[in-house]
Amino acid sequence: MAAASPPPHSLQSTALSTWISLSSTRKERRFHVEDLFVTDSYRRKGFGRMLLSAVAKQAVKMGYCRVEWVVLDWNVNVIKFYEEMGAKIHNECRICRLTGEALQAYGD
Ligand SMILES: CC(C)(COP(=O)(O)OP(=O)(O)OC[C@H]1O[C@@H](n2cnc3c(N)ncnc32)[C@H](O)[C@@H]1OP(=O)(O)O)[C@@H](O)C(=O)NCCC(=O)NCCS
Repeated sequence: MAAASPPPHSLQSTALSTWISLSSTRKERRFHVEDLFVTDSYRRKGFGRMLLSAVAKQAVKMGYCRVEWVVLDWNVNVIKFYEEMGAKIHNECRICRLTGEALQAYGD
């Protein structure tokens, strides 16, 4: 399963594993999906598709206009799956990460 303590305003699927956090700007309300994960022995049985579909369905129901998540560029089979589900892959986005000493430098 994902992290031990959930981020604020998030919920976790108990059957599979993902975090969903909600955010909004003046223009858009978004679902952010984190760590979509299905245990090895349960893969290719439709659970991943089911989970992502359920998230998208809930987003529509709640009037959110965007569901987004991050995928690593080597994960080509999964990227194909996401595209087949209708997702557009944005190659121009880069993850920015502050960690280790660079992050600690902001302490105190
Ligand atoms: C990605 C993941 C969540 C998909 O879950 P899943 O339950 O296996 O997905 P589904 O059974 O619904 O399969 C959906 C489709 O994805 C594609 N797919 C998934 N894994 C694949 C693989 N290893 N090789 C080829 N295609 C694959 C197939 O098109 C598949 O449909 P099909 O079985 O009808 O051909 C799961 O593989 C996983 O946890 N992977 C490791 C973590 C990861 O990479 N997460 C994604 C982070 S963005």
